Formats: sequence, structure tokens, C-alpha cells
Amino acid sequence: MRIETVAVHAGAEVDPATGAVTPAIHPSTTFEREPDGSFPRGHIYSRSSAPNRAALEACLSALEGGADAIAFASASAATSAIFQSLGPGARVVAPTDAYYGTGKLLRDVFAGWGLETTFADMTDLAAVERAVRPTTKLVWAESPSNPLWKVSDLAKLGAIARAAGATFVCDNTTATPVLQSPFKLGADLIVHATTKYLGGHSDVLGGGIVVRERGPLLDRLRTLQTAGGAVPSPFDCWLVLRGIRTLPYRVRAQSEHALRVATFLASHPRVERVHYPGLPSHPGHDIARRQMALFGGMLSVQVKGGADAAIAVAAKVRVFTRATSFGGTESLVEHRASIEGPGTTTPDNLLRVSIGLEHPDDLIEDLGQALG
Ligand SMILES: Cc1ncc(COP(=O)(O)O)c(C=O)c1O
Repeated sequence: MRIETVAVHAGAEVDPATGAVTPAIHPSTTFEREPDGSFPRGHIYSRSSAPNRAALEACLSALEGGADAIAFASASAATSAIFQSLGPGARVVAPTDAYYGTGKLLRDVFAGWGLETTFADMTDLAAVERAVRPTTKLVWAESPSNPLWKVSDLAKLGAIARAAGATFVCDNTTATPVLQSPFKLGADLIVHATTKYLGGHSDVLGGGIVVRERGPLLDRLRTLQTAGGAVPSPFDCWLVLRGIRTLPYRVRAQSEHALRVATFLASHPRVERVHYPGLPSHPGHDIARRQMALFGGMLSVQVKGGADAAIAVAAKVRVFTRATSFGGTESLVEHRASIEGPGTTTPDNLLRVSIGLEHPDDLIEDLGQALG
């Protein structure tokens, strides 16, 4: 079935007790046993499994065409579980420009318990090949990458990982399953910040891992989820699932509007550079055309005149909101280097822009007046 149909129906069933079409929220932490002690309805205790989480996991798995999915309280918790699944002494190859929090986890948390990370420019395949060693257990990709929206060739990275016997993980948060199918390009695991487009309304934090096939890695990740306990609440799962029902239509509109905004910004005299994979001038445009259906709702713009000029533009917006995060219905702008803090490699005149669902002409007019 097509993704629009999957997004509406996966993980949904009419409630046999009431006929309710919309799922109930089940806050119960504990579930009844049969007289013989068995659990034929599948749930025992809500850290191990729960109805709303099971529905969300079924939907995440169906959206990506995976074998199963594991939901977490945030994408950072999901990311941590993947790193925890590796033994100490394992090596990871990760993008120099991965989401800031992913790099921070590797540097500030997992380095301390023996995970060695080589950061590489994933758009430079020779550099990735040099970074991979015999002890490399995991290759991490994020495409388009946050906040420069660099595009890496997932099929080629998957081949490098496979040749090294390493697990290939793709953070598909920005592209979403609507625009990009990492399993078809060789990924073993897909990570999502459901906080972003899947939830889609800036009102729930969540994460998920989708696995391509069942096996020991799925079992290990499931143990890390249920024993570690970083699980999403029933209401969080319900909200993410509710958001997913409209995902394909939102992401397509956001992608079309982002292309219009990026095209406007690219010709503005106060703009130094626009980072958007949909622009033919973007270095990853050809790969993006091959591996993505559209180019996504995220872009970044470097304003002429440095950090102060960029911050002044953000100060003048009226339709956009100055805030971090992305993927909601409202358009957001943020001075990214300030959010990332000391040690950031993000250019100091860069504004990261999340395109919402407002009319694109209103967004263009707003940025036009803010740029002056
Ligand atoms: C690409 C990407 N992956 C992961 C995350 C982490 O998500 P969460 O805040 O749910 O932990 C983010 C957050 O911005 C992100 O942009």
C-alpha cells in the first residue's frame, strides 16, 4: 500500500469493546493475567509493553517497511540505546555534522565507556573508507544533515558499512519516510526523532528505531528499551500516532514551500548563501534527486554581515517564531550557533529555518521585510 494509506491505517483498529474509531489512551501500568498466569493479550507491565506504544511501533515499522520498531521517550534515548548495544572498544564512524546532540553523546557520554568514534565528512566517500577500521561496528549517517542539510550517498555508505561488517544506521528524521527510504538504500537501522515531522505539531518529544530484520540486534535493542525504561508515555504515543496520520500531506506541502522560500532567499542581496538540497546550486542536489522524493522542509541561510546581522534578521520576523526544533505546523527560525554553544562548527551568520504550513507567500513576505 502507498504511504498515505499506511500513515492513516497502520497501528489502527476499531476498538472491539466500544466501536471507537479513534484509539483510546491506556494509562494502565499493569495488565490482568489469566487464571493460569498467562498473558494472552500481550501486555504485563507498561515499561515492557503497552497498547499505545505497540500501536505506534507497528505504525513506525510499517512506514519504513521494517520488521519491527522500538519507541523511546526521545530520539536521543533511541540513539543512546544504539550506542549502548555496542560493546566497549567498538568503533563508530559518525558524521562530523551529525545532529549536535548525537555528536555530544558520542564525545561526552560514550567515549567514557570505551566507544571510539571517528568523525568523518559523510559526503566524502574516500574519507569514510579511510575512517572505517576492522573494529568498526557501526556507521552512522544523517541525510540531509542538520543544520547544513548536506546530502550523503546512502547507498554507497551502506555498501562501505556492509563490506566492513558494520551496522549501517540512518537518522531519517529530516527526510521522513515520505521522502526517503533508507532500507532500500542498505540501512540496517533507521532512527527518528518523532518529536519533529512524525509528531508534527511541536507538542510531543519522542524517538524510534526501526529495524530492517529480526535478530539479535533487535532483541538487544528491545532489552535496552524495556530494561533501561526510557519509554514514551501512552499519551505521547497517542499524539505521535495522531500526527503521523497526516504526515505525507504535511511533508509534501512543507517541501514545496521550502523550495519557494529557498529560491527567494537565494536571490536576495543580503543573503550570502542558502543551504537547501532542492537548489541546483547545492553540492548534494544530484544525489538528493536520486534518493529523495522531494527535498524537505528545512533550510539554512547565511546572512551577509556576520552573527549580529543574522540575529537582527531573526529579531524582526513576525510570522516565523524564534525557536529551536522543527517539523511542526508553524515556521521557526533560530540562530543555530547560539543554540549549539561553545565548540560549534556552525557558521555564526547562519539562521536555521523550519518551514511550517503557512502560505508560502506570507513566509516570503515576512523574511523579505526582516532582511530589509
Ligand atoms: C536529526 C535529529 N536527530 C535526533 C534529534 C534528537 O531528537 P530528540 O530531541 O527527540 O532527542 C534531533 C533533534 O533536533 C535531530 O534534529
